[in-house]
Amino acid sequence: MDSSDRAYGGTAPAMGFTSDNIAGASPEIIAALAAASTGQAGPYGGDELTARVERKLGEIFEREVDVFLVPTGTAANALCLSAMTPPWGNIYCHPASHINNDECGAPVFYSNGAKLVTVDGASAKIDPAALLSAARVKVGDVHSTQPSCVSITQATEEGSVYSLNEIEALAEVCKTSSIKLHMDGSRFANALVSLGCSPAEMTWKAGVDALSLGATKNGAFAAEAIVLFDPSLAPEMGYRRKRAGHLFSKMRFLAAQIDAYLADDLWLRNARQANDAAQRLTRGLAGLSGVEVLGATEANIVFCRLPAEVIQALLQAGFGFYHDRWEPNVVRFVTSFSTTAGDVDNLLAHVTRAVHTNHAGNR
Ligand SMILES: Cc1ncc(COP(=O)(O)O)c(C=O)c1O
Repeated sequence: MDSSDRAYGGTAPAMGFTSDNIAGASPEIIAALAAASTGQAGPYGGDELTARVERKLGEIFEREVDVFLVPTGTAANALCLSAMTPPWGNIYCHPASHINNDECGAPVFYSNGAKLVTVDGASAKIDPAALLSAARVKVGDVHSTQPSCVSITQATEEGSVYSLNEIEALAEVCKTSSIKLHMDGSRFANALVSLGCSPAEMTWKAGVDALSLGATKNGAFAAEAIVLFDPSLAPEMGYRRKRAGHLFSKMRFLAAQIDAYLADDLWLRNARQANDAAQRLTRGLAGLSGVEVLGATEANIVFCRLPAEVIQALLQAGFGFYHDRWEPNVVRFVTSFSTTAGDVDNLLAHVTRAVHTNHAGNR
């Protein structure tokens, strides 16, 4: 338990595990916002902080990159994808993907009509063989939308993480099919610390052309970075961002957040905190009878199956989590940079108590 842990016990207040965006922001990022609020700075990205973030991302990714800051992950994804497909293109994605389920059709809207085509695979990861088959359907047929790009989520919506080999296998299919590869990195840092590889290895070295680099879920107030590894995508991105209403005139405030996020490895420290909390939760849940942990915990999302009575007891105690979106009794807990070991232990104490009460009632 670290020093930031709050006192806890059976009487500690219940808390939310619905998502990592219910957490606040890291003090370093708020301080950076406050520091950026004094004095004058060039508008629309013509400021020193934005230039510094661009340089920093070049260093982090070990190459020249084109960077476009935006306030939401949906904007980052939809803008990236719109630059990678014509209106008659297919955007391949997993059925469980955020772009498929939770962006209100933004990729279709921003691309002027491209089609989301789902390609399944275990653990919310696209299967390369299934992608290859999908990308061969009606190629060149004027009556059909055409293969254009693939979007993978790293870490995935189920909390799994693509290995470097898995990304490379998908990139190989993209190459064979002459289509581009986008990574939704809303939880990029969580995946990165999970794999223990470099940002370059997890992206362009594995064949990724464009990245939505998330920060909001991992400590920022509201900031994401579009990072382009394919320079051919860059010239039109500026126009696309402006046309979409996402070119901030006071860009320094987005830049200040990303600058602080990347400084002193804050992004990696925050992600480690979130991932460690998820691991702790999984270990605790795995030892309880009647509780089934679903899938491997590789980032900061834990899926499990709980008895209905236990779910009700947790809800009554005030815990927040999604439980009615999947099969009956399947629950998702999400940890964040602000989740402490004490928060996890408090949840586990309530689960344990509810499990015992439930067993006693069933005797
Ligand atoms: C996988 C994934 N991608 C992208 C996003 C970004 O969404 P938003 O537009 O709410 O920032 C989210 C947020 O829930 C997400 O889970």
